[in-house]
Amino acid sequence: MKLNIEKIYSFVSAKEVENYSLDAKIANVALRKKQGKGSDFMGWVNLPSSITDSEFSDIEATVNSLKNKVEIVVIIGIGGSYLGAKAVIDALSDNFAQLKGNKNAPLVLFAGQNISEDYMFELRELLKTKEYALVVISKSGTTTEPALAFRFLKHDIEQKYGKEEARNRIIAITDASKGALRTLATQEGYKTYVIPDDVGGRFSVLTPVGLVPIAFAGFDIRKLVAGAVNMENKTAPDVQFDQNIAEIYAAARNALYNRGKYIEILVNYNPKLHFVAEWWKQLYGESEGKEKKGIFPASVDFSSDLHSMGQYIQEGIRVLFETVISVENVNATQVIELENNDLDGLNYLAGKRIDHVNKMAELGTQIAHIQGGVPNIKIEIESINEFALGELLYFFEKACGISGAILDVNPFDQPGVEAYKKNMFALLGKKGYEHLLKNVKLK
Ligand code: PA5
Repeated sequence: MKLNIEKIYSFVSAKEVENYSLDAKIANVALRKKQGKGSDFMGWVNLPSSITDSEFSDIEATVNSLKNKVEIVVIIGIGGSYLGAKAVIDALSDNFAQLKGNKNAPLVLFAGQNISEDYMFELRELLKTKEYALVVISKSGTTTEPALAFRFLKHDIEQKYGKEEARNRIIAITDASKGALRTLATQEGYKTYVIPDDVGGRFSVLTPVGLVPIAFAGFDIRKLVAGAVNMENKTAPDVQFDQNIAEIYAAARNALYNRGKYIEILVNYNPKLHFVAEWWKQLYGESEGKEKKGIFPASVDFSSDLHSMGQYIQEGIRVLFETVISVENVNATQVIELENNDLDGLNYLAGKRIDHVNKMAELGTQIAHIQGGVPNIKIEIESINEFALGELLYFFEKACGISGAILDVNPFDQPGVEAYKKNMFALLGKKGYEHLLKNVKLK
């Protein structure tokens, strides 16, 4: 993986980026020493290199014992208990995996990431005709959305298979001792995995939270973690600033932010990466957006969004910068053929691959956006595979921890997420919340 920040230098000077190098180094050292704001939640920093062979084997054994008897595995979770797995599975899957199926692995679906009644009804209808298992994930064990989904799906799976067999088809991933899900899992005797105390939800993709669903989907969790270990080493504090891509990215973002570039758009040219951006948005948005500060993380899928958001990016208010995930090699080869009549006028591309056109769209867009006033950071990955994704995820985590510290916020809490929950509980009549909306006009 490579990081290229050259295309920000017409907007901020190299000196302005360099000015953050000391802060970035201090933040990186503090992460390793587990010091500073949010120090109780820095377990993710050395997590990749501390996963043991027996932890991998345990997950693989669980998956192997179930995967041949199920067609679908439903992962129940929200936020950090959902997006990491979704990002990796989508990135590694065939674009049409849901229709084509995969004889080596069950289809992985998600629930509890919304409260849509239609979604729940349609999922339950589908599951009536399928062999399935459930993985319920919640660090706190008390989050309403997944708890509600699990209530429905637990009922259904017990009805379908009986309580005894249902128990063999349910896996719970939660805190070691706290929360309603832990109590339930202990009472029911489910197979469980623990989310370490010192790893917050959005930093948990390399714990069983991400690894169990990814392994169910048929992907190699050892290679994913090997990529993360590689990045753990490449971004360690003893790697000097000008070689340390996590420190450079964190410094560059803060230099741009300091120049009024308040919105970062993560760009991809490959639809498989759509959910990597969704995961990234949670990571950065929830970590940095507090105390009336922080870069707003947005994302686009090009080239489709060039025909929707492209106008704004080119000519709207100049508070944007882009970070492009550029994939060097794609898996397939599709060559454009010569046609006799050339009615569509595309013969000039004959003999070229679609990926070549995509790459020229990427380059042409980069030039246009820089000319339009949008600084451009480029992250290059060789291809989309487990190792590269492991590197990418850990890179973003490390840079986020550093960037948040430079911004002087606690990147590992999320006090703002509570506000909607309290109101929702008050509106739903949950005990203890009645007083909250007393003076609020509801109509
Ligand atoms: O990053 C976080 O901590 C949150 O976004 C959580 O992942 C999300 O709220 C889900 O929480 P839980 O796993 O406790 O159900």
